[in-house]
Amino acid sequence: MNHSPLHLIGPVMVAAAKKATVPVAVHFDHGLTEEKIREALEIGFSSIMYDGSHHPLEINITETKKMAAIAREYGATVEAEIGQVGGSEDGSVDLEVLITSTEEAKMFAVETKIDALAIAIGNAHGVYKGEPKLRFDRLEEINREVDIPLVLHGGSGISEKDFRTSIHHGIRKINVATSTFHSVINTVNEAAPFKDYFSYHETVIAAAAENVKRHMEMFQSVGRVKEDNVYV
Ligand code: 13P
Repeated sequence: MNHSPLHLIGPVMVAAAKKATVPVAVHFDHGLTEEKIREALEIGFSSIMYDGSHHPLEINITETKKMAAIAREYGATVEAEIGQVGGSEDGSVDLEVLITSTEEAKMFAVETKIDALAIAIGNAHGVYKGEPKLRFDRLEEINREVDIPLVLHGGSGISEKDFRTSIHHGIRKINVATSTFHSVINTVNEAAPFKDYFSYHETVIAAAAENVKRHMEMFQSVGRVKEDNVYV
């Protein structure tokens, strides 16, 4: 939020989505307060995440239900989180990973009636300290018990093989940010010095797009458009 204020960046995202030639969601990630979630919905976001994973289970359920009811008023879909994904994108906090319990995940999904569930199976935001070791045994178990699509946060640094295994066991949305930031920084550093601002700007956009494309290829999601654009 400090780097991209919602009231400025949000309307730009929604306007871009309206022009997209493929189905897109404009998603508000890690919403923590009703105020910000409402602000995103008012701007026209089609999807919100309420992140109450830092709360005890009962409070997470109560708050998620409340945010889900608000999102439904706007026709938006809802993601929530249970367990705790480690780290943080800007490195400012170093949360420990708390692996999602299968029973709690099942109960949480049934009680809250959300559309997608983010789980913690050893994944972490930002740069992994060592090789990420994902708990596929737990993912398999959760996937057996929970009917809704599962979400994997902290996608940067996970291997192609582990992405494929995750998808095989029910992961349907993967969040990737840090590796896109790195792609931009590395490409810009290699191309510097720039003679003009516009070629610098184009390099930034191309580097971000390149990383998105690389991940789409790893996820085998290229060319798999099924529905019309929700914004048309
Ligand atoms: P990374 O920055 O580790 O890719 O995580 C992104 C994320 O999960 C955002 O919610």
